[in-house]
Amino acid sequence: MNVWRDIPVLSNSSVSMRDPKRVEQILTSMRNAGASTLQVISDFDMTLTRFACNGKRCPTSHNILDNSKLISEDCKAKLKNLLDTYYPIEIDSTRSVEEKLPLMVEWWTKAHELLVQQKIIKDRLALVVRESEAKLRDGYQQFFDHLHQLSVPLLIFSAGIGDVLEEVIRQAGVFHPNVKVFSNYMDFDESGVLRAFKGELIHIYNKREGALLNTEHFKELQSRGNVLLLGDSLGDLNMADGVMDLQNILKIGYLNDKVDERRQSYLNSYDIILEKDETMDVPNAILQYITGQ
Ligand code: TMP
Ligand code: MG
Repeated sequence: MNVWRDIPVLSNSSVSMRDPKRVEQILTSMRNAGASTLQVISDFDMTLTRFACNGKRCPTSHNILDNSKLISEDCKAKLKNLLDTYYPIEIDSTRSVEEKLPLMVEWWTKAHELLVQQKIIKDRLALVVRESEAKLRDGYQQFFDHLHQLSVPLLIFSAGIGDVLEEVIRQAGVFHPNVKVFSNYMDFDESGVLRAFKGELIHIYNKREGALLNTEHFKELQSRGNVLLLGDSLGDLNMADGVMDLQNILKIGYLNDKVDERRQSYLNSYDIILEKDETMDVPNAILQYITGQ
């Protein structure tokens, strides 16, 4: 058995690893343990969805709403202003997480306040998603279908908007019963108008707390100590912190933006990094290898 021969995409120029030997060991143990011990934990925006398409940025689940006809022009300008202010901070590798965290909370809080003021109607969300430019990464169908066929649980852990991202995967025909989502959900009043967001806010830097709060979910999956984690932000690295009896974890990180500045920090924390790769080819090939099919 040779991992590099069996998974040729790992030799693509877009793939890098700090410690290929370690990756090989993890992959071998995960394959030996088999699909019945596996779970997949993934971020949504810019991990399962594309970052760019034909040179144009693709929307996050927030952006799907922000760019839609449900939002007034005045509010669109304010949301765009927030994005232009806070997104550069999110991806700034010269600032520490401690420095960025309160600013990210500020971004999410202000954005959600603006959305709530728009009196968004629940029934319009499906159409807005249908008319949006959101795109799951190439190869998504194989990814979702394969996990479903093998009954491997897929947890999507997102700081985006749950109602919107669920609609994206539903419309793509891949919201299978093995998929579970932790995210920010909208709270609608009895006439179906958005009045708030439910529960604790999930932003990019508190996925760890979210994972620990949801240990009940992971308890059910106690026999699945092998985790394939997919993310695009350093905050995604903590999404598996609630998993009991962790055996092996393989962390795959999409490095979409500011590639040169961020390469080293991604190499230090993810096992495999995928630079400007808009596909699910590597996760799919790894899943085929681990599950033997
Ligand atoms: P996640 O992919 O880690 O779950 O985070 C969600 C992404 O959503 C993050 O990269 C920032 C982005 N975002 C927007 O695009 N617009 C917004 O209004 C907010 C609050 C976040
Ligand atoms: Mg993301």
